[in-house]
Amino acid sequence: MTAKIVTVFNQKGGCAKTMTTMQLAGTLGLRGLRVFVVDMDPQNTAALWFHQASAETPFPAEVLSMAPLKEAFLEKLSAIAEKYDIIIIDCPPALGSRVPWAALVASDLAIIPVVPVMDNVWASKQAEELVLEARQARTSRGGDNLKAVYLLSMVRRGNIFDSCLETLKSGAQIPILKSTLAMRNVFPESQLYGCVVRSFGKSVAASEVDALVDELAGLLEIKVSKAK
Ligand SMILES: Nc1ncnc2c1ncn2[C@@H]1O[C@H](COP(=O)(O)OP(=O)(O)OP(=O)(O)O)[C@@H](O)[C@H]1O
Ligand SMILES: [Mg+2]
Repeated sequence: MTAKIVTVFNQKGGCAKTMTTMQLAGTLGLRGLRVFVVDMDPQNTAALWFHQASAETPFPAEVLSMAPLKEAFLEKLSAIAEKYDIIIIDCPPALGSRVPWAALVASDLAIIPVVPVMDNVWASKQAEELVLEARQARTSRGGDNLKAVYLLSMVRRGNIFDSCLETLKSGAQIPILKSTLAMRNVFPESQLYGCVVRSFGKSVAASEVDALVDELAGLLEIKVSKAK
């Protein structure tokens, strides 16, 4: 079997790309899949998170920094794809980087994390444009179409967030996932311990991530064992 490829991208910094990548990767790993994370951010956040784990309880997915390779990382993907069920590419926030474009052209699914605040809603337009361009490029090469979704991240309660979400919904050209990740301390806590929120046992955050995994498994048409 060759791995499904998922790109997590948004040129906007700090919108939870790495949080999404790592929670998904580790939770899919705990639920029986062989997962490989390609860390394409020169900040190496995903790789540092991975190395934060203890030898006794390693992070439940492989993570490797390939940022120095820039777009050439694509050449390494087919060899990785043979050995894994899913590859998740964590993109850098830089607007000028060609990495998101290269990743999108090779992916089955793009996830765009977006915080429901106006600066993120404005930036989402640029992310959408890149998805639409990648779709066009793939169609002209006779390839399958790229699936793309928004993921609401760091969600908080309040009228301001509801209004921003309405603005996003009214202009969005790609669907918004039903699953969301709320702002919760346990998310950065899992980073500190080099694990995922599920590693701490049952919690609302772990249920949110499991629901996200289930929704994405449906989109990717892959089988994942049930959450424990
Ligand atoms: N659901 C959440 N609840 C609480 N904190 C969160 C949540 N999601 C992300 N964070 C925190 O918000 C910050 C930004 O998240 P993250 O690093 O995942 O964003 P990013 O888009 O990858 O950033 P960059 O653009 O720098 O790569 C981090 O400090 C992270 O720990
Ligand atoms: Mg990041």
